[in-house]
Amino acid sequence: MDLFEYQAKELFAKHGVPTTPGRVTDTAADARAIAEEIGKPVMIKAQVKVGGRGKAGGVKYAATPDDAQTHAENILGLDIKGHVVKRLLVAEASDIAEEYYISFLLDRANRTYLAMCSVEGGMEIEEVAATKPERLAKIAVDAVKGVDLAFAREIAEKGHLPAEVLDAAAVTIQKLWETFVAEDALLVEVNPLVRTPDDQILALDGKVTLDGNADFRQAGHADFQDKDATDPLELKAQENDLNYVKLDGQVGVIGNGAGLVMSTLDVVAYAGENHGGVKPANFLDIGGGASADVMAAGLDVILGDEQVKSVFVNVFGGITACDAVANGIIGALAKLGDAASKPLVVRLDGNKVEEGRKILAEANHPLVTVAETMDAGADKAAELANK
Ligand SMILES: Nc1ncnc2c1ncn2[C@@H]1O[C@H](COP(=O)(O)OP(=O)(O)OP(=O)(O)O)[C@@H](O)[C@H]1O
Ligand SMILES: [Mg+2]
Repeated sequence: MDLFEYQAKELFAKHGVPTTPGRVTDTAADARAIAEEIGKPVMIKAQVKVGGRGKAGGVKYAATPDDAQTHAENILGLDIKGHVVKRLLVAEASDIAEEYYISFLLDRANRTYLAMCSVEGGMEIEEVAATKPERLAKIAVDAVKGVDLAFAREIAEKGHLPAEVLDAAAVTIQKLWETFVAEDALLVEVNPLVRTPDDQILALDGKVTLDGNADFRQAGHADFQDKDATDPLELKAQENDLNYVKLDGQVGVIGNGAGLVMSTLDVVAYAGENHGGVKPANFLDIGGGASADVMAAGLDVILGDEQVKSVFVNVFGGITACDAVANGIIGALAKLGDAASKPLVVRLDGNKVEEGRKILAEANHPLVTVAETMDAGADKAAELANK
């Protein structure tokens, strides 16, 4: 998950990375009040998850609270590369002597972590990498050894930061590494990391990407989610621990195992060509335990999608046998009652397939059609979606 600048700075503050004080808001009147409270010139900064905000007019200096309000009015609602500005960070403006660049990231290609540091900050780092590669240091970081103060100083030195600020920069760089580790981040980037006229080092911008695989041990990270920007069905699926991705077709898909679900999407799309071009409506992997509860939660999400006209349940019984899945489906339909109103095509195979089919046949539910094969199931579901 990518964070907004103001969220990245919350994490910075938590780990002692020096930055300028500020607050986030969504109204111009409030931006004015914050500027008044700070009592010094401020920067009004668009909070969008895209680079190049400054160039797009989303970062402005305001000498007075009146200016803060005017800039806030102009920046709110601004479209920056398709991202509409809904929130602003109002932060104390700092005096800048020089602008540097520092980041830590996961280097997948080299199976390690990487520190990047450059005295050429403030501008796009891709440009520095392209035009002055010798000014951008790239230093591998051993995951076990990490970054101590001495190594942090070495990173700053290799990035050509001036001697006078190496000690101060080392302290901040080491704290950024601590943030990276403690928060399970995939990226921590500060551009610009500034030197003030009195040789302080401050993080004036922040980009952080958190590793969703660590959510189980990062309870606080759930609060960072941008609920306005998340699809409501995906949000509901997340709350039920379902792996769901909304697509824009008409055939809802439920399967067990990511590989099977992916191939089900292909087969449904292919079958759809004979039925008015209908397409899969989603990816949904219910994983190993296809209990009635999990099945009901999955069906509930899919049936909540107005575009869905039919549902294809494609399950290969393994550890969870087909009889349990069949009971799950019938239980889910009973649980959902009138909320289950769209036809369901079910294809079961694998462990205890005969028992599973027998349960479905005996239940004889008016919405359920049993298919013998994956192709036949996809074809039937596509046909029903096209009615
Ligand atoms: N608190 C601040 N005080 C003084 N100047 C600032 C402050 N914050 C930002 N600036 C100036 O504005 C420039 C752009 O700000 P920032 O780096 O946050 O946005 P950006 O780089 O345009 O956006 P992005 O990082 O999304 O590409 C900085 O390089 C810096 O010169
Ligand atoms: Mg920046």
